[in-house]
Amino acid sequence: MDRLTLDYTNVLASAVGPEHGLDISELEAMAGPSEAALAAVQARRTQDLRWLDLPHQQGVQRDVLDYAASMQDAFRSGDLENVVVLGIGGSALGNRALHAALSSPFHDIARPEGMPRLFVLDNVDPDLVGEFLDTFDVSKCLFNVISKSGSTAETMSQFLVLRQRLVEAVGVEAHRRHIVVTTDAEKGVLRPIVEKEGYASFVVPDGVGGRFSVLSPVGIVSSALVGIDVPGLLAGAAAMDERCREAPFAENPALVYAAIQSLMQEKKGKPMAVTFSYSQRLACLGDWYAQLLAESIGKRVSTDGAEVFTGPTPISAVGVTDQHSQVQLYVEGPFDKWFTLLSVERPDHTVEIPAEYADHDALSYLGGRTMNELFAAEREGTRIALTDANRPNVTIQFPAVTAHVVGQYLYLMELAVAVMGEHYRIDAFDQPGVEAGKVAAYALMGRSGYEARRAEIEAAAGGEPRVV
Ligand code: PA5
Repeated sequence: MDRLTLDYTNVLASAVGPEHGLDISELEAMAGPSEAALAAVQARRTQDLRWLDLPHQQGVQRDVLDYAASMQDAFRSGDLENVVVLGIGGSALGNRALHAALSSPFHDIARPEGMPRLFVLDNVDPDLVGEFLDTFDVSKCLFNVISKSGSTAETMSQFLVLRQRLVEAVGVEAHRRHIVVTTDAEKGVLRPIVEKEGYASFVVPDGVGGRFSVLSPVGIVSSALVGIDVPGLLAGAAAMDERCREAPFAENPALVYAAIQSLMQEKKGKPMAVTFSYSQRLACLGDWYAQLLAESIGKRVSTDGAEVFTGPTPISAVGVTDQHSQVQLYVEGPFDKWFTLLSVERPDHTVEIPAEYADHDALSYLGGRTMNELFAAEREGTRIALTDANRPNVTIQFPAVTAHVVGQYLYLMELAVAVMGEHYRIDAFDQPGVEAGKVAAYALMGRSGYEARRAEIEAAAGGEPRVV
């Protein structure tokens, strides 16, 4: 079976020197704390960290696949053409990452017969939503409304706008078939709306926070609708769970990755974590991971109440494209970054480069070779350049971009981030900074119950504005 691997040779001092690289003994010293951190995380598996168990929810998987199958006729007949996710943050990024990784890059331009397009509308920018309304016939759309809290202003406002358009287009009764909701079993306003309207719905279970929810109906409903191999995805995640659940440090990629992240920041002064995806299809996984890392580890207060203002800054780059925009900085700029290269061993396609213009040295070396060779050479070139410039880097090797391997990656990173939370001594599962922004927006929009916050904001807005 295809197994994801983590190659960390190039974070060691033997590869990038003692100033920027880790002595193997430094890493080995993390074995005890890492295994303790893993035990602490796993002890919460049946309590507040129920996301750890998502790959094994066979009943949920069946319900999702049944729902997707029940919609197939509508897509085949052309009654429906598009699936549109209304959600934001953890309720959106996984959908986009899975679609980008496991559907054709051109799926939404030239969709496979009988298959819907998939769009993720994760903004309330009026120029995005307005353009959507101008461009799409809502009667051909299935809206996948995703909000764990069932109260997020962005998602709820989109729901209100699109629901009204649907009712205008197809009538009150028929609009119900165009909406599927994923939300908490009880909390928030979406659940009572689901009950009242009779929308198809799925549950975000307790103990599954937004950014840890991609393997729940939050991520797998839209995946199933566009034909992604959901059983394969969950089986891959389950395989990574088995591999990492109890394995000792030296055999446990989640523990090794979490330890490297923590040492890179705390011992080597590298607050920036770059995910450099050498795969166009995996590029959105870098964005998904950016949220997972930033929201989980970026915290003001430690678990013992001290102000720590901690957390790595995630950066997402794609190879080879960003070799021509960012690599200059990465190789010669400040020593404040470490790198995770995502690499694919067996791309699906082979593209041959014709042997033309043999008398031009600048072209003749390309002729008769493949783009696969060129892509791999550029990836290795970047790895060598980073290493030679003493920039620590690891490589996560995807044997192929399949649902199974992507499932392994998602679970690996989720578990690694949970363990990082223990190393950084913060709560990796809350997001008070996000909530603070939500509360301020509610206050500014005049939501009832937020009057006091509005008064505070208005009182604080003193001083002369200075604008040039
Ligand atoms: O990870 C998180 O918890 C957040 O990013 C949420 O997913 C995001 O704020 C959306 O929340 P909700 O799903 O409740 O609408």
